[in-house]
Amino acid sequence: MEVIIQPTPEEAARLVARIVAHDLRANPHLVLGLATGVTMERVYRHLVRMHQDEKLDFSLCSTFNLDEYVGLFPSDQNSYRHYMDHNLFRHVNVDPRNTHLPNGLAHDLEAECRAYEALIQRFGGIDLQLLGIGKAGHIGFNEPLSALRSRTRVKALTPTTLKQNAALFGGEDHVPRRAITMGVGTILECRRCILLATGDSKAEVVAKAVEGPITSMISATTLQLHPRCSVVVDEEAAANLKEKDYYRWIFENEPEWEGYR
Ligand code: F6R
Repeated sequence: MEVIIQPTPEEAARLVARIVAHDLRANPHLVLGLATGVTMERVYRHLVRMHQDEKLDFSLCSTFNLDEYVGLFPSDQNSYRHYMDHNLFRHVNVDPRNTHLPNGLAHDLEAECRAYEALIQRFGGIDLQLLGIGKAGHIGFNEPLSALRSRTRVKALTPTTLKQNAALFGGEDHVPRRAITMGVGTILECRRCILLATGDSKAEVVAKAVEGPITSMISATTLQLHPRCSVVVDEEAAANLKEKDYYRWIFENEPEWEGYR
């Protein structure tokens, strides 16, 4: 795992967007794993700008989102399908037929989860997966005690997550209690993972995820098992990290990051 510290949330998001753009230019058929949430909005703004100003081409890529609420219509403004359309898909030239989210309205949710896994396989697996992190450490909606080998499935949301998302739904009582999410095992199979966390509210959980022991109580800690995972943070989210000088040295000196400095 590598940790990249950027001065501001804007610069952290821009770096993540530049990594996506680099990988997309290198492989126009990229299979891109996407996340939703407030943190990712900035990344999508940068990608839209790159599409408009630099002709970043999404026409051949495919996307798979991490998760979707159970019971929301795609047209519901709190559904993740709506979020993706609104923040990215309708502003770039991705083929809508190549954008995938789990169907939280499926009659048979278990079959839907199995089909989602199979579809990811059919596309050859995910090349680059974007991740946010919840305040209690979830990636996707892999809440505490998510099995380290879990696959796409229905997960009940914890009180912390319900609270975190309450504002968007006009109160905790309106937040769906369950979501379909890729599993920890699904995420660990992606060829590259980029986790973005910004703001002081994420400082504590970032330190646990990066420098703490691996535990199913904090599913983000499992990224320590991933052979190619970068954690991109702003100064505030990096505040509780112990090895900041080391991380900064790597970003400033390792050839892999030369084009991003
Ligand atoms: C959303 C998702 C979640 C969020 C996380 C952070 O698709 O997978 O894990 O990334 O809850 O959300 P924000 O950015 O709103 O703090």
